[in-house]
Amino acid sequence: MKSTFTVSNCTALITGASAGLGAEFSRQLAAKASRIVLVGRREDRLMELASSLRSKRPSLRVDCFKADLSLASERERLAVWIIREQIPLNLLINNAGLGDLGLFDTAPWERLSPMLEVNITALTHLTHLLLPMLRAGQPSAILNVSSVAGFYPLPEMAVYAATKAYVTSFSEALRMELASEGIIVTALCPGPVPTEFFAVASRPGETIRAMDRAHPALATTAEEVVRAALLGIAKDKPGVIPNRLLALLVRGSRLLPFPFIRMAIQLGAGPQKPSMDHKRDLP
Ligand SMILES: NC(=O)c1ccc[n+]([C@@H]2O[C@H](COP(=O)([O-])OP(=O)(O)OC[C@H]3O[C@@H](n4cnc5c(N)ncnc54)[C@H](OP(=O)(O)O)[C@@H]3O)[C@@H](O)[C@H]2O)c1
Repeated sequence: MKSTFTVSNCTALITGASAGLGAEFSRQLAAKASRIVLVGRREDRLMELASSLRSKRPSLRVDCFKADLSLASERERLAVWIIREQIPLNLLINNAGLGDLGLFDTAPWERLSPMLEVNITALTHLTHLLLPMLRAGQPSAILNVSSVAGFYPLPEMAVYAATKAYVTSFSEALRMELASEGIIVTALCPGPVPTEFFAVASRPGETIRAMDRAHPALATTAEEVVRAALLGIAKDKPGVIPNRLLALLVRGSRLLPFPFIRMAIQLGAGPQKPSMDHKRDLP
């Protein structure tokens, strides 16, 4: 059965709506959706965004749900609330995510654990919890925000890149499982986007480097990323890389044998030496 999902009059749930891509998804969807649920930890930001969306389009219904998605109990509380409120969900945007820039060995576990929880477990758990609602609200769609980082193993972003490899792989397989039901699943794979991501990903005391290092031609604005993503769902695309040059480079690189990719990444990353300041003690 071919899906006819469209964002017009949809009811969307957006995780990580308090900043960056999530806030931009809310702004772009506000023009067409009938109801939007904004999820994040910073409730003040969600409320502020909600009132600006309502003032632009008074007929839009906006709900805010404060939740720390790194906790299973919070994810369950969100699903229970959606069922109790009978929210006719038909678009799930699994956008919340975070990174960590630096060597794996020197990363405090307190930084890695929430990243694994939010990027992998929360995305999977929420999809699992909310799939019955999406099925009931058909035609429906799931947009999982992955990253171009998921296509390559990346030193100094080892865990983050691996979480996004998971997101892309999971999305592709789920898409195949749900194809016969007409539920669209799309993985969004942006390159660098100027949001709060790099400030959050940088370790205390370290300067924000990755966005500065990114070639301007490979960067994309949040507006462009979200526009491309919503077009991708409308066209039932399995994946969206919202920058033409980056998309070309990714596709080209996939034709190369992996040892070449490994060599290029290693040369680009330079020698990896843990700083003595960051040497970890034995537990
Ligand atoms: N920016 C980039 O260059 C880039 C590139 C490729 C992919 N991405 C992906 O795009 C997505 C959005 O990132 P962004 O660039 O918009 O970054 P951002 O500006 O830092 O926004 C991240 C969002 O995730 C939410 N979040 C983080 N931890 C959370 C938690 N424990 N519980 C609930 N919400 C949580 C934050 O909300 P609260 O802090 O209020 O909870 C915030 O709204 C992420 O999945 C990221 O991996 C970003």
